[in-house]
Amino acid sequence: MSQLEIRPGLEDVPVAKSAISFIDGKNARLEYRGIAVETLALESSFEEVSWLLLKGDLPTQRELAEFDGQLRQHRRLKYKLRDLIKTLPETGHPMDALQAGVAALGMFYPARDVRNEQSNWLSVIRILAKMPTIVAAFHRLRVGDDAIPPRDDLDHAANFYWMLFEREPTPAVRKVLDACLILHAEHSMNASTFSGRVTASTLSSPFSVISAAIGTLTGPLHGGANQETLEMLEEIGTVANVKPWLEQKRAADPKFKIMGMGHRVYKVKDPRATVLQQLAEKVFVESGRPALYDVAVELEKVAEPIYGPKGVYPNVDFYSGTVYRALGLPSDLFTPIFAIARSAGWLAHWLEQLQNNRIFRPEQEYVGKRNQPYIPLAKRP
Ligand code: COA
Repeated sequence: MSQLEIRPGLEDVPVAKSAISFIDGKNARLEYRGIAVETLALESSFEEVSWLLLKGDLPTQRELAEFDGQLRQHRRLKYKLRDLIKTLPETGHPMDALQAGVAALGMFYPARDVRNEQSNWLSVIRILAKMPTIVAAFHRLRVGDDAIPPRDDLDHAANFYWMLFEREPTPAVRKVLDACLILHAEHSMNASTFSGRVTASTLSSPFSVISAAIGTLTGPLHGGANQETLEMLEEIGTVANVKPWLEQKRAADPKFKIMGMGHRVYKVKDPRATVLQQLAEKVFVESGRPALYDVAVELEKVAEPIYGPKGVYPNVDFYSGTVYRALGLPSDLFTPIFAIARSAGWLAHWLEQLQNNRIFRPEQEYVGKRNQPYIPLAKRP
């Protein structure tokens, strides 16, 4: 019998030393390379934050201009990849299309020698630059429209919006979309990052690292929560229905979980949710305040006395869905947008893992049968 203690979900078990992001879950603090995420969301851009996460420091003006230029240059997809995306079932989830698209990218741009820093950096650029194009192309093609080619005169967030809608975002919409990308770019050793690092530890290509992470992000307990939150808010429907709805859910299942609430690390309100709400107000001035946003605010209020003592508060996904809806984004693109953002953090973790790599090979506690005889099939009933 094993003497090892099993910690379900690896809670509190460190699996790597990392200098990329810091979370203080009791004090609502999240820092990327030492800088508060709220400051970055308000002051920076996704391109600059990606560099910060990948390289460790803010870029100089010249470094940022070059990096931004490279990203703009690598947005396009090969026509064969576009054709491949076209053949995917339109009823399929865009996360699966994104995962397949990124895995396929690895066939167009083989990058098997992960000791080659130059090729690694080119893969970083390609993955960051092309993920929004894959998501937008799948969305356009599944509804029978042509994919819209990327524009290199727009920044990362504005270009993504353009490729979806063929119109430029207003300044407030561009800002909130860019801020959402920043707020989702990195979050220490979460499930998808861990999954990416496990894949990275086998010295697999960056395209398989990122497609593994995308698969892990898909689940409703992780990235899928923002879509499920919106569906839950739609089910509640009105502010007046919040209280009766919650009472009914709790009566049916005392362990009922509100989507978009709770977090393994944050035991207070997620700081990303707070800054997202601030920026969202600016969009609501243009688009009107969505009714579902008020439902979310009311649910936060009603849930607080019940779940607050357990440390269960809104996480970033509690509000991101209503903001994305206000931007006109279909709900099944919410998690892909999360993936587009998180690719920066995943890639930073990939590079960090390679610096001091050892293959992940944890232990298990075997609880099955031992020394069983093999009974030939003919003798079995
Ligand atoms: N609504 C109501 N209660 C919740 C809750 C929620 N969203 N999340 C956790 N709780 C309660 C649990 O029922 C449990 O209560 P108990 O101590 O009485 O048994 C306690 O809080 C601890 O929850 P647990 O599931 O053990 O926490 P975890 O750290 O394993 O899980 C999450 C973290 C994020 C998976 C979990 O909070 C969750 O499922 N949230 C909803 C999905 C979501 O929004 N995910 C996105 C995360 S960014």
